[in-house]
Parts: sequence; C-alpha cells; structure tokens
Amino acid sequence: MTLRLTPISLLISVALVSSSFAYAQAKDLDPRSEQYAKKYPKQYQSWKKTTDYSDKPDEVAEDPNLAVLWAGYAFSRDYTRARGHQYAVTDLRETLRTGTPDAEHPDMMPMACWSCKGPDVPRMITEQGEDGFFEGQWSKGGPEVVNTIGCQDCHEPGSSKLRMARPFAERAMKSIGLTWETAGRKDKQAMVCGQCHVEYYFEGKNKSAKFPWDNGVKTDQVEAYFDSIEFTDWTHQLSKTPMLKAQHPDYETWSQGIHGQNNVTCIDCHMPKVVNKEGRKYTDHRVGNPFDRFEQTCASCHDQTKAQLQDIVAQRKAKIDELKMNAETQLVHAHYETAAALAAGATDEEVHSIQQDIRHAQWRWDHATASHGIAMHNPDEALRVLGTAIDRAANARIKLARLLSSKGVKQPVAIPDISTKAKAQATIGLNMDKLNAEKAHFIETVLPQWDEQAKLREAIYDKE
Ligand code: HEC
Ligand code: HEC
Ligand code: HEC
Ligand code: HEC
Repeated sequence: MTLRLTPISLLISVALVSSSFAYAQAKDLDPRSEQYAKKYPKQYQSWKKTTDYSDKPDEVAEDPNLAVLWAGYAFSRDYTRARGHQYAVTDLRETLRTGTPDAEHPDMMPMACWSCKGPDVPRMITEQGEDGFFEGQWSKGGPEVVNTIGCQDCHEPGSSKLRMARPFAERAMKSIGLTWETAGRKDKQAMVCGQCHVEYYFEGKNKSAKFPWDNGVKTDQVEAYFDSIEFTDWTHQLSKTPMLKAQHPDYETWSQGIHGQNNVTCIDCHMPKVVNKEGRKYTDHRVGNPFDRFEQTCASCHDQTKAQLQDIVAQRKAKIDELKMNAETQLVHAHYETAAALAAGATDEEVHSIQQDIRHAQWRWDHATASHGIAMHNPDEALRVLGTAIDRAANARIKLARLLSSKGVKQPVAIPDISTKAKAQATIGLNMDKLNAEKAHFIETVLPQWDEQAKLREAIYDKE
C-alpha cells in the first residue's frame, strides 16, 4: 500500500492539526455531557436512561470454573457482566481487578484501563498526546477520567456529527480497510461502537492500547498475531501456561455474522430511531437490550413475533453454553493435570506443546464467549470456535495422560472442590475478605479525593 501524502501536504496537515490544538477552546475540551442537556434534550435524556440497565450479575458466582481458568490473573477475583454506559467509570473504580492503589499497595494496572471509559480520554489525548495519556499507572487517571461514556466519545464537540475519538482505534480500523473520512454512514455507525467493543491489548513501554488486527479480526488470525509477537497477558498459576485473555470482541464477531454481512449495524438494534410524544423522530440513546424496543428494532425488518425471535436467540444461547461448559471442563482438568506433571518433575520442554494447546484452547473459548451478545451477533462462529477450543484442550489432555504415566503420577488427577465461587477462590489462594475490606476502604477514602480534584479542575469550563 502506498501512502498518498506528499511531503508538502504532510506539512500542511501537521500545521493544521497543531494549530487547531493550539486554538482549541476550553469549551471544546469540556468533556461533560450535561452541557448538551438543553441543546439536544431528547438524545441527552435517553442517554441518561442507560441507568435502566443496572443489573450486574456476578459471573464468577454463576460459573466458579472461571476462578480456576483465570488463576493468577485479577479476573479470578471479580468479574461481573457489562451493564449500562452510565456505570462505566463507577464499575472500573469499584472492581477488585483495579485493586486499591494507595500508599501501601502498588498500583497493578496501566492507564490504558481507562481507554474505553469516557470522553475524558479524548480530552487528555488532545491535551497530552497519546504518549502523555498512556504514561503511568491507573491511579494517575483517577481524578482525570470522571465522566462516563458520553456525547464526545461518539460526536464532534458541540455537534451531532459522528466521530472516532480515539486515534488508536482509528489506526486499527484503517488497518482493516476502514478510513473514517471515506467510510459510509453505516460503517461509521458501527465504527463508533468499535472504538471500545473490541479485543485489544497493551503494548510497548507505555502500555498503550492496540487492537491485534494486523492479520485480520478472526479468532484464528488474532491468535496467530499474538503468537507471532510472543504476547502473553499472564502466566497461569497452576499450569504455568503463557495465557491470553480475550476482552469483548463484539465488533469483530458481529462483522462476520449474518447481520454484519448484510450491513445491519449496532445502531439498527441498539440505538433505533424512535418518535416521541410530540411526533419528533430521534435516535434513542438508551443503549441496551434491543428486545426492549422490539417494534423499532427487529420488527422494522422481520415479520416474526418477539416471542419467536427471542426463542431462536435462547436456543442458540443454550447450544453455545453447552459447548462452552464442555470446553471449560476440559480446560480445568488440563490446568490441574499440567500442575501435577510439573510437580512430578516434568521439564519445560516436556510441557511446552501441552501449554501451547492450553493457551490456544482457552483463547478460543474466551474469544468465542467473552462477547455476551454472541448468541445474537454470530452464533455459528461461536460454535465453530468452541469446537476448535475443545479439540485443542483434548489434544493437551492426550499428551498429558502419556506424560503423567511416564512420571508415575496416579490418574485421574483429582480436582479440588470448586463448586462455589468461595471454594474455587480459596483453592487458588485468594483471601477475598482482605481484598474486599481493602477495596471498601479505598472506595471510602480515595474516591472522594479524586472527585474533589476533578471538580476543581473542571471549574475552568464554567468560567466564560
Ligand atoms: C467509550 C467506549 C464505549 C463506546 C464508544 C461504546 N461502548 Fe458500549 N460499553 C462500554 C463499556 C465500558 C461498557 C460496560 C459498562 C459497565 O459495565 O459498567 C459498555 C456496555 C455496553 C452494553 C451493555 C449494556 C447492558 O445492558 O448490559 C451494550 C449493549 C453496549 N455497550 C453497546 C454499545 C453500542 C451499540 C455502542 C455504539 C453505539 C457502544 N456500546 C459504544 C464502552 C463503550
Ligand atoms: C456510543 C455513541 C454515542 C454516544 C455516547 C452519543 N451518541 Fe448521539 N448519536 C450516535 C449515533 C450512532 C447517532 C445516529 C447517527 C446516524 O443516524 O447515522 C447519534 C445521533 C445523534 C444526534 C442526531 C439526531 C438524532 O437523534 O439522530 C444528536 C443530536 C446526538 N446524537 C446527540 C448526542 C448527545 C447530546 C449525546 C450525549 C448526551 C450523544 N449524542 C451521545 C452515537 C452516540
Ligand atoms: C441484529 C441486531 C443486533 C446487532 C446488529 C447488534 N446487536 Fe448487540 N445485541 C443484540 C441483542 C438482541 C442482544 C441481547 C441478546 C440476549 O438477549 O442475550 C445483544 C447483546 C449485545 C451486548 C451484550 C449485552 C450484555 O448483556 O452484556 C453487547 C455489548 C452488544 N450487543 C454490542 C453490540 C455492538 C457493539 C454491535 C455492533 C458492532 C452490536 N451489538 C450489533 C442485537 C444486535
Ligand atoms: C435493519 C434490518 C434488520 C434488523 C433491525 C434486524 N435484522 Fe435480523 N436479519 C436481517 C437480514 C437482512 C437478515 C439476513 C436475511 C437473509 O439472509 O435471509 C437477518 C437475519 C436474521 C435471522 C436469521 C439468520 C440467522 O441465522 O441468524 C435472525 C434469527 C434474525 N435476523 C434475528 C433478528 C433479531 C432478533 C433482531 C432484533 C434484535 C434483528 N434480527 C434485527 C435484517 C435485520
């Protein structure tokens, strides 16, 4: 691919960018969505209503296998299901995964954790550049990223024009052939969601966010990419496997599914056009479950009843869950069996190909299911990928059976009682009472300070 920028046009565009930064008014940087309440009341009011989606099911309690599968990684402490956009900042602050950074506890997380939490992120990137934003640990962003996902994450400041507010997301889209300036309206609608609802990882000294799409967005292609750069999210506590953790590849799986292939975008289902009492048409900004507005979403294209379509989705979910649990059982055994082999003196060389199988199996299981909309967005792909996950876990266990016999280890290798969240977390050595108490203290003492600092800083926007 050739870049069509001559040195002259490059100079001009650099000059334009830096001057527009220099003249950016404080008003343009104001990230607070409340400023649009009067100008765009319908959109603003419906945006606020994402508080309707407040349920936060505890996934580890529902499926204690997760604690074992993520042993040694912060996800094993706490993983709740995504909920409405109004809660993004609160939930990141309060999850046990971000710990309790204060004088006594080291900060475990990078700044990049804030990347998808709200319009303070584009504000900081404008003020400090990407390097400036990503530099440092998570707590640096505490008094900075205080506004939840809002208008300027998807719109130009002060305007209804859509935008991509994250240069790293724009680069990733470009790498799969989508350039913002030339993209069509439908592409843009999905791209704004694809700033955040994607798989990403943190790279380089500054741990900046990058989407692993250099080989393509499919599960197998991303796996090959991560292997090629020898990327590892963490080393598994039991099997010592160099693991990968999938985030929420909604954009990727949707784009390969029947709706994505037919140009039906996230907006058609999650942000439909609706009509208010005065007969005015607008985009409903209450992003949530499309079945709650069936007439404006599914029914605008389909003749089936709500019950029929919900039943189809439920059936698909059941099939996916069956394979998902099957993959988890195989993986849990594989982790414990590898631990037993290592304890019996197996060498790195002897377990290497087993660990590769486990790495790939768990990646596939995770990438197929971490996106909770998968039963709707792309059930066929989920089933295919889960099939390959089970396949790889089975390969690992065949090799393990041989290795364990050669080491004289009695089989089957016993699995501890992991039937509840508390039991599973205890077997991997987590002291949950301590972690919870420390977090409660952090919420009580540190968060008010962050809010106070943010209030002082934001006072500048109110002076005119
Ligand atoms: C700036 C990043 C960002 C953007 C842009 C974004 N989201 Fe989200 N979205 C999130 C985060 C973070 C959560 C989880 C919030 C939580 O659980 O606290 C979430 C949650 C959701 C949920 C779950 C709601 C529920 O009821 O469970 C849906 C659905 C969703 N987003 C759809 C979309 C769609 C559609 C778009 C594009 C119009 C979009 N999002 C744009 C970050 C983003
Ligand atoms: C997660 C992304 C996202 C967020 C957050 C968001 N919007 Fe939108 N907005 C959209 C999309 C997508 C459209 C529809 C664009 C289209 O029709 O092509 C839209 C359309 C609009 C329009 C055009 C009129 C209409 O209703 O279609 C206005 C005005 C608007 N938004 C205002 C706001 C305001 C004000 C906020 C904050 C309170 C906000 N938006 C937050 C994505 C977003
Ligand atoms: C054809 C309609 C449709 C399209 C297109 C679509 N979704 Fe969904 N999505 C749904 C439905 C329906 C659900 C809820 C399924 C269920 O009941 O479990 C859902 C669920 C989700 C969830 C999970 C919410 C939760 O409960 O945790 C997220 C996140 C999400 N979608 C984001 C997106 C994004 C981002 C896009 C575009 C890249 C998109 N969706 C495209 C219909 C759609
Ligand atoms: C903007 C139009 C549009 C909307 C909105 C829409 N669909 Fe579709 N849907 C399509 C198209 C187009 C196809 C592909 C039809 C084909 O190939 O025959 C499709 C296919 C389907 C299929 C069958 C294909 C398959 O195997 O997945 C189901 C089931 C489905 N949609 C459910 C839903 C549900 C549920 C919703 C709402 C959450 C929804 N759709 C919203 C346009 C839409």
